[in-house]
Amino acid sequence: MHRDQAWAAVDDYFTAELVQEDQALRDTAAGDVRSTAPGIAVSAPQGKLLALLAEMIGARRVLEFGTLAGYSTLWLARAVGPTGQVLSLELQEQNAAVARQSLAAAGVGDRVEIRVGPAVETSAALVAERPDPFDLVFIDADKPNNPTYLEATMALTRPGSVIVLDNVTRQGRVADPDSSAPDAVGVRTALRMVAEDPRLDATALQTVGVKGWDGFALIYRRS
Ligand SMILES: C[S@@+](CC[C@H](N)C(=O)[O-])C[C@H]1O[C@@H](n2cnc3c(N)ncnc32)[C@H](O)[C@@H]1O
Repeated sequence: MHRDQAWAAVDDYFTAELVQEDQALRDTAAGDVRSTAPGIAVSAPQGKLLALLAEMIGARRVLEFGTLAGYSTLWLARAVGPTGQVLSLELQEQNAAVARQSLAAAGVGDRVEIRVGPAVETSAALVAERPDPFDLVFIDADKPNNPTYLEATMALTRPGSVIVLDNVTRQGRVADPDSSAPDAVGVRTALRMVAEDPRLDATALQTVGVKGWDGFALIYRRS
């Protein structure tokens, strides 16, 4: 078996054994084909990880950058419970429409708001609204803007909040200081901001699975 197939098979095994992806999650994942970028949602085990993190910290307010078809959004919406709220920022109206439909069908439409537009702008507008702080932030939109999203996140969180920055390996480019690829620079700059911010503590993990070689940073806002 090729190693990519083996990674996918192990993800399938973990999903069947532990993740308990129900029909609504499968339907939402399937809705991905109607999005502008099929195939880039988190995997089922990653979605469950986000939900577990949210539940572990008792998150009631979650902010997401990058909705796509709403798959990670559904995991997070379930994790915050009926009194919780998820606000998801998405560039494309097409994706927001697909996501809203799936989230409504899953019975969580009332606890999710999707704001459409460039997240640099929608997150700045959100900061200006001075909302209650978010307990968990999942940053999973365009990677070049990660530094801006992290800056907005600092204005929108509190000590104790958890931040997950997705897709940090960039096929290894993140570890190449000479890479000028905008995605790698976006990740490197955001991670440098984390490292230099005394309020934050973090680690990053590389992963393999149905999505190949990937990884995420887990960031804890201590103060
Ligand atoms: C990796 S996908 C999100 C996947 C989703 N979080 C999930 O796991 O189910 C990235 C999303 O970010 C959106 N996006 C890209 N550039 C953006 C921008 N400038 N502002 C807001 N969203 C953006 C894309 O349209 C896409 O839906």
